[in-house]
Amino acid sequence: MKIGVLGSGDVGKVLGAGFLKHGHAVMMGTSNPAKLADWKKANPTGQVGSFAEAARFGEVVVLAVKGTMAASVLGMAGESALDGKPVIDATNPIADAPPQNGVLKFFTSLDESLMEQLQDHFRSAHFVKAFSCVGNRLMVDPQLPGGRPTMFVCGNHDGAKKTVMGLLDQFGWDTADMGKAEAARAIEPLCILWCIPGFLRNEWTHAFKLVKQQS
Ligand SMILES: NC(=O)c1ccc[n+]([C@@H]2O[C@H](COP(=O)([O-])OP(=O)(O)OC[C@H]3O[C@@H](n4cnc5c(N)ncnc54)[C@H](OP(=O)(O)O)[C@@H]3O)[C@@H](O)[C@H]2O)c1
Repeated sequence: MKIGVLGSGDVGKVLGAGFLKHGHAVMMGTSNPAKLADWKKANPTGQVGSFAEAARFGEVVVLAVKGTMAASVLGMAGESALDGKPVIDATNPIADAPPQNGVLKFFTSLDESLMEQLQDHFRSAHFVKAFSCVGNRLMVDPQLPGGRPTMFVCGNHDGAKKTVMGLLDQFGWDTADMGKAEAARAIEPLCILWCIPGFLRNEWTHAFKLVKQQS
């Protein structure tokens, strides 16, 4: 597939390289292409463009920018470029205030997630929450004892979710479909939980797994 990745941070770079590794075509989007010079050297088949160019390029778009800037970056990408496409939303609504005893602060509430705000604003895009509850180093082909970890996903469009769950399967994840966009109210705070061992004990090498009784 053609994947447009909005974001030049660690998440964008890791996912962009991961999609190339798994045989997809990738264009990275940024307002500052210089930030991706090393990525481009390491991934010569990947392209680099503006946010708008990457969004237009992608049949699937990945949103991997600072949470506070997500709406403004999507505005730069342009809603028409997102029309009818799955948008993998890897963002977290992390506030600028520092963590308290290792517990991050969010700028959203438990009654409205960032993904719901984005879905409300960019109505013709099909947002699917994914990748938000694990560190970037484990996003592609995680090798962990206990087998595949679980990626919790949600979104209003079943077809978009199916596409994203297929990509997650390729990347070595089990998926757990938590339903519509409102479920992002529960998925986004998993980032807070995931980060606590990191901030308290410098442990950043874990992922969540949903275990079930055999039926
Ligand atoms: N780091 C992780 O392991 C991890 C794991 C899960 C989820 N997440 C979430 O994924 C998203 C991306 O995280 P990240 O660590 O890759 O990078 P980040 O530093 O949170 O975001 C960098 C991206 O945000 C854009 N941006 C726009 N305005 C910005 C501003 N005022 N300040 C800083 N960046 C701005 C940058 O644009 P330009 O390209 O134009 O510079 C760049 O593409 C975040 O929402 C984060 O919470 C991160």
